[in-house]
Amino acid sequence: MGNASVLLNVSRRIVERFQDCSPMLSAYNSAADFDWIQHQSKLPWMELPIQVPTDDIYSEIISITPYLVDHRDDYGEHHGWKSFCIHGKSYDATREDLHYQDARPHVWTMEAVKHMPRTVEFFKDQWPASSYQRIRVMSLAPGGYITVHSDSQHSSLQPINISITQPDQCRFVMEKHGTIPFSPGRSFWLDVSNRHAVFNDSDQYRWHIIVHQKCDHPIFQRTVVEHYHSVYNTKHATSPTNNPR
Ligand SMILES: [Fe+2]
Repeated sequence: MGNASVLLNVSRRIVERFQDCSPMLSAYNSAADFDWIQHQSKLPWMELPIQVPTDDIYSEIISITPYLVDHRDDYGEHHGWKSFCIHGKSYDATREDLHYQDARPHVWTMEAVKHMPRTVEFFKDQWPASSYQRIRVMSLAPGGYITVHSDSQHSSLQPINISITQPDQCRFVMEKHGTIPFSPGRSFWLDVSNRHAVFNDSDQYRWHIIVHQKCDHPIFQRTVVEHYHSVYNTKHATSPTNNPR
């Protein structure tokens, strides 16, 4: 059995073992500020309650499908995963900066400006960010998968995954924490130092947008802090493990 199929089997086992788990959460911190939530909360993910025009974005995504490129396929670690940069070094520079080692700046790509104008306007004018690195459309084909991996050594909430479509039978599972409850229009801020894997066992494409952005926008920070206190305080109010500081 080759390395790729071993990795696939391990990933399948991890998903089966953890898909029905609930996230392991630290005690609620009544003094939590933005930096603590991002870097010290150890939350595996946090929903961002921000409205997303999924119908508009989906109709534009359909027009960029000819530009999708295979994303990060070094050793068969995924199948059917394709990507397109809305914002980045170029529409097809879908990997992290270190991979390219060049001075190209991150900009709105020409192909996105031409084919995804309402999506570009949304991220420019409505989504709370002062600046972006990569914003990518990510498609996972029917039967596609992303084998288990971790994207960072350090625990921290970093990339934002916005679900544009989410077929039933497509699961994004974090080891020890469970299935991220994506549905169309829901956005989650992720700690991808946790090992994770994705399987699309449906017969439809799954479309997400991944955003890497600067996190200094005041509305972004206020949204995160307010949401943390409203959701996690409530969730743990009656929990025996509740330990407000
Ligand atoms: Fe990842």
